[in-house]
Amino acid sequence: MTLTPVITAHWDRPDLYTLAGYRAIGGYTALAKALQQEPDAIISTVKDTGLRGRGGAGFPTGLKWSFVPQNDGKPHYLVVNADESEPGACKDIPIMMATPHTLIEGVIISSYAIRANHAFIYIRGEVPQAIRRVAAAVREAEQAGLLGDNILGSGFNLRVTIHSGAGAYICGEETALLDSLEGRRGQPRLKPPFPAVAGLYASPTVVNNVETICNVPFIVNNGVEWFRKFGTEKSPGFKVFAISGHVNRPGIYEAPLGVTMRELLDYAGGMRGGRPVKFWLPGGSSVPMLTAEHLDLPLTYEEMAAAGTMLGTGTPMLFDDTVSVVRAVTRWLEFYKHESCGKCTPCREGTYWITGVLERFEHGHGSAAEIDTLVDLCDQIGGRSFCALGDAAATPYPAALKYFRNEFEAGTSQAAELEFAPAASYLFSEATAR
Ligand SMILES: Cc1cc2nc3c(=O)[nH]c(=O)nc-3n(C[C@H](O)[C@H](O)[C@H](O)COP(=O)(O)O)c2cc1C
Ligand code: SF4
Repeated sequence: MTLTPVITAHWDRPDLYTLAGYRAIGGYTALAKALQQEPDAIISTVKDTGLRGRGGAGFPTGLKWSFVPQNDGKPHYLVVNADESEPGACKDIPIMMATPHTLIEGVIISSYAIRANHAFIYIRGEVPQAIRRVAAAVREAEQAGLLGDNILGSGFNLRVTIHSGAGAYICGEETALLDSLEGRRGQPRLKPPFPAVAGLYASPTVVNNVETICNVPFIVNNGVEWFRKFGTEKSPGFKVFAISGHVNRPGIYEAPLGVTMRELLDYAGGMRGGRPVKFWLPGGSSVPMLTAEHLDLPLTYEEMAAAGTMLGTGTPMLFDDTVSVVRAVTRWLEFYKHESCGKCTPCREGTYWITGVLERFEHGHGSAAEIDTLVDLCDQIGGRSFCALGDAAATPYPAALKYFRNEFEAGTSQAAELEFAPAASYLFSEATAR
């Protein structure tokens, strides 16, 4: 399968981030087209494309928009989730840096479709460059009459507010993000009601990922059939894959959904030093790991689910055979423990306990009994936590155990006593310390 740059098509243009540069490649033509249509027609088009949210959960975008009640007399809001804090995910920030006007054009069209007159872009606070770039693009758009009152003479008004996050991973969870945006401590809300019915300031709100919104101008300009030519029936379209880890050319590769990891790995120049793939994750640390035997599976929502994992954010991380699985999983759990917002007990206490046990395995002091106790512990967290952060924290260990049980066994003190030294020493070898 070949790469199909759409969102990334003109990233080699140094002035793409300016309004002039974006206009030179046909920017804002979709907006003019959209404003001549009825808002509901745009919702129907997006629904027909089958576009699924690129923020991790893969929820159908058009369907989400159609949940917004119409003629309810309340203000509606569009909130762009640009918090991108998932370990391994690095696609939204490059998109905002390279082509902020694609995002703004998508925001205007999407707001028009859901009848919102105020949109918010919630950007991860640790990336001031992205905040400045998007803010500058908003100012340019305002000065050109593309934002504000009576956009392009259509009678449609839209204000865009950029909001900087304060560094919490949980604020990427859509309802915690809304609390944070309202000025409260960012913690998830009980659902239902879902944001589409009662979101920001208790009004109907659509929360969408940056990449999701960036699809919208291309859909308006090129139509449903064009979009569905990419990808599969259940996973239509193209995806901005951000590849990281032990590959020769980590970076952004845009390809149709259904491309395989092996194909993407070829584009990324193969593994460093020609070493084998030991394990890889299709979409950030929150999805279960796979191994080299899964490299030929199509990267789609359905195929990844069938393989026991998820496409997630579509940002694969690949690890070669120098890496200790125990060490990698422990680092992820330390992250979840640190980022747990503390609202619910299974996640707050569970991430603490899992991390503690994993750290013992990492240092060769685990006990054989704990290998299975830890599976039980994960079972008590997954599906029993208040939000998906708890579920995510419960996935790395069982997946790692499925494929690499020997490495956890090697981390037990019994292994050391029984002189399984070669296996145990693997954890502390020079290669794994990289
Ligand atoms: C802990 C946690 C962090 C999340 N972080 C992000 C994020 O940074 N960006 C994002 O778009 N979605 C993130 N999500 C998913 C959002 O809750 C939500 O599903 C998404 O923004 C919806 O947009 P989409 O339908 O366009 O994918 C996160 C979810 C959880 C549970
Ligand atoms: S699962 Fe974790 S992050 Fe989510 S509400 Fe509970 S404590 Fe907070």
